[in-house]
Amino acid sequence: MGPSKYYDYAASVLFTKRHRRIEVLKHSPDLKLYGTGRSAAVFKIKNENKVMKVFYPLFETTAIQEKQNYDKLNGNHYYPAVYDSETNYLVMDFIEGKTFFECLAEGIPIKPHDIEVVDKGLQYAKKAGLNPSDIHLHNLIITKEGNIRIIDVARFSQEKNCTQWDDLKRAYYRFYQHPLFPKKIPKWIMYTISKLYRLYKHFTTRERSG
Ligand SMILES: Nc1ncnc2c1ncn2[C@@H]1O[C@H](COP(=O)(O)OP(=O)(O)O)[C@@H](O)[C@H]1O
Ligand SMILES: [Mg+2]
Repeated sequence: MGPSKYYDYAASVLFTKRHRRIEVLKHSPDLKLYGTGRSAAVFKIKNENKVMKVFYPLFETTAIQEKQNYDKLNGNHYYPAVYDSETNYLVMDFIEGKTFFECLAEGIPIKPHDIEVVDKGLQYAKKAGLNPSDIHLHNLIITKEGNIRIIDVARFSQEKNCTQWDDLKRAYYRFYQHPLFPKKIPKWIMYTISKLYRLYKHFTTRERSG
């Protein structure tokens, strides 16, 4: 037996590598796979309003960094609260809602006020001594009540300047707000745009982009 039930949950998760991608092979029946990212798989915990972010093998540094960053954010309401952690997992609030990516894909409008709220949340992180980075459409969630939450703060402690949010904001005001701009955008177009954006950044910034 591990030190906590969450520890046992995390230990139940088995990853495998298939076609150069990491996949979840099995996990406790009390966990339900909810989302995956570059560094972890996220599970909804049965009968709790919490998720468990289980990091892939070799992503322990990311896990530790993300925990430290959440500590600095100190339970601020723009971010999920963290309840338990180990070197390979975090247990935090389940933020039920739609990511900005899903909003665009499904044609749910993103209002200027939402952008301002994200700005406020990021300003709070800056005041807490962090350097908000890796802000993209998958890490911003609008809840059923219309509140904005920011997730995935692992890269908030990197030193490199990240212009991603400023670029997104500019695109929002320049294109999205234009009356003729489609409010519903097919996913493949968004994936293509984000690929082109990364390529563009790769060739226009001197540091290697991560
Ligand atoms: N606290 C949360 N509440 C609800 N969904 C979440 C939460 N954390 C992560 N997710 C979902 O899981 C996905 C992957 O999580 P994320 O933290 O972004 O992992 P990574 O660090 O690998 O990018 C997110 O895009 C989101 O859809
Ligand atoms: Mg992410």
